[in-house]
Amino acid sequence: MNPVPPQVTRRSFLRSVGVTGGAGALFATMGALGLAPTAAQAAPAFRAPRPSDFSLTGRKPQKVVILGGGIAGLTTAYELGKAGYDCTILEARGRTGGRNFTVRGGTEQTDLDGHTQKAKFSDGVYLNAGPARIAQWMVTLDYCRELGVPVEVFTNQNASAFIYNESAGMTPGNAVRYRTGKADVYGYVSELLAKATDQGALDSALSADDKSRLLSFLSGFGAIGGKASGYAYTGTEHRGFVTDPGAGTDAGTILGPPPSLTDVFASNVGRYFSFEFGYDQAMLMFQPIGGMDQIPQALTRAIGAHRVRLGAAVTGIVDGPSGVRVSYTQQGRSKQITADYCVAAMPPHLTARIPHNLGADVTASLASFPATPVGKIGLEYRSRWWETDYKIFGGITETDLDLQHIWYPSYGHLGERGLIVGYYNTGSAANVYSALSPADREARAIAQGEKIHGSKYRTELATSFSMAWHRTPYLEGGWTSPPYTGPGYQLLLQPAGRVYFAGDWLSHAVAWQHGAFVSARATVSALHQRVMAG
Ligand code: ALA
Repeated sequence: MNPVPPQVTRRSFLRSVGVTGGAGALFATMGALGLAPTAAQAAPAFRAPRPSDFSLTGRKPQKVVILGGGIAGLTTAYELGKAGYDCTILEARGRTGGRNFTVRGGTEQTDLDGHTQKAKFSDGVYLNAGPARIAQWMVTLDYCRELGVPVEVFTNQNASAFIYNESAGMTPGNAVRYRTGKADVYGYVSELLAKATDQGALDSALSADDKSRLLSFLSGFGAIGGKASGYAYTGTEHRGFVTDPGAGTDAGTILGPPPSLTDVFASNVGRYFSFEFGYDQAMLMFQPIGGMDQIPQALTRAIGAHRVRLGAAVTGIVDGPSGVRVSYTQQGRSKQITADYCVAAMPPHLTARIPHNLGADVTASLASFPATPVGKIGLEYRSRWWETDYKIFGGITETDLDLQHIWYPSYGHLGERGLIVGYYNTGSAANVYSALSPADREARAIAQGEKIHGSKYRTELATSFSMAWHRTPYLEGGWTSPPYTGPGYQLLLQPAGRVYFAGDWLSHAVAWQHGAFVSARATVSALHQRVMAG
């Protein structure tokens, strides 16, 4: 098992660039991302094609066939459609959205191993099986605004959620609250740094003013004692309370005393704290009200459902001097469609398997993007015991178990029923779960989550639905990991003849809808420029 649950963050992406490309590549990439000074010009703001682009120049909108009805494919049709392009989307699944997939009561799915599940969730209960959080800076929110998709806060970080590190000796019933873990780690780190500062160990780096300001910061940050106590950390209300503050003389009972410094560092709770520093993982995030699939549904409505052919699996792409011919099967019948241009917005490793005449380097490039296993389970409960018993309203519990992350819902607060994401895991941990039947996945998730939450984790369970993205037809992966930006990436940023490519995998925001939106915009701009220049 991976010792640190992998997270796709800008930092880890930059680290991977630094490792493969060296400091020069890292600096250039940071420059392109706006994180370092650079002489390069910022990318121009996106300008959607307009009908007047054609009416004023006498040119005609062209016909475009789009392979894949995920966010990138839908966005391509949506933006080109604004100027009157004649777009048709071929989508192999029975719905648009791709990995943007919300499971509700009645949702049915069969995976590549033949497991068929039909969700029995109650009315109003849903699982965002794919994307489930949107950072404030992401263009995804601009599309929600433009499409009229209302959003609500998604709680990504909650001091009341738990940390459970079994490999560090934690036992069932003894998970640590985030706030307690943070208080202890920050407290002891502050104590050590204050001592070193006071004893002159940092005199070569700090002026007298620096020292006094640093000590003042540490005093509040770590809640440590003053000089007379040796800057000792002895715990404060930052750790939380056993009984909460009350009326009159009832000051409440602070949780304490803290474990020793050695025990705190041995518990390894601190390894989760940098997650919220990631630019893509701000504490306060957003989700569409009623389910993430409100986004593809709104896009599909805006494009026009008649432009989307569902159950249409692409079987061939032939690029020619004046157009592209795409073969596909639908309801067992072989069909063809021709267009002036094609945008391939499917998972790259699946496009690589389609017979085409775009060249071996295109196939090899498409196959260079590694698809990673990702799993999720939605557990519907008859009561919201995490709110009533544990006072947890949203947020994420982190573990070193192979369930990796547990998410509490950010909707339906104070209601009756609710849905917890009982595992959200990647890599080998996702494979452990996907190798099981849906019933056994549920049993494993319950056995693990029960260690943190106690018996109601089992007794209040109503029903579940699990997703193994790498075993899902026409998707076969969660996302591209590690992000690939090698020569194949550069090649596919360019069209192969009349065939363009789009997807989050062709962006610096892999595994985010933002990446799919901006990649589609870049492709739309390039295609439209070519049409306007023709
Ligand atoms: N964007 C994905 C997430 O937030 C990786 O979990």
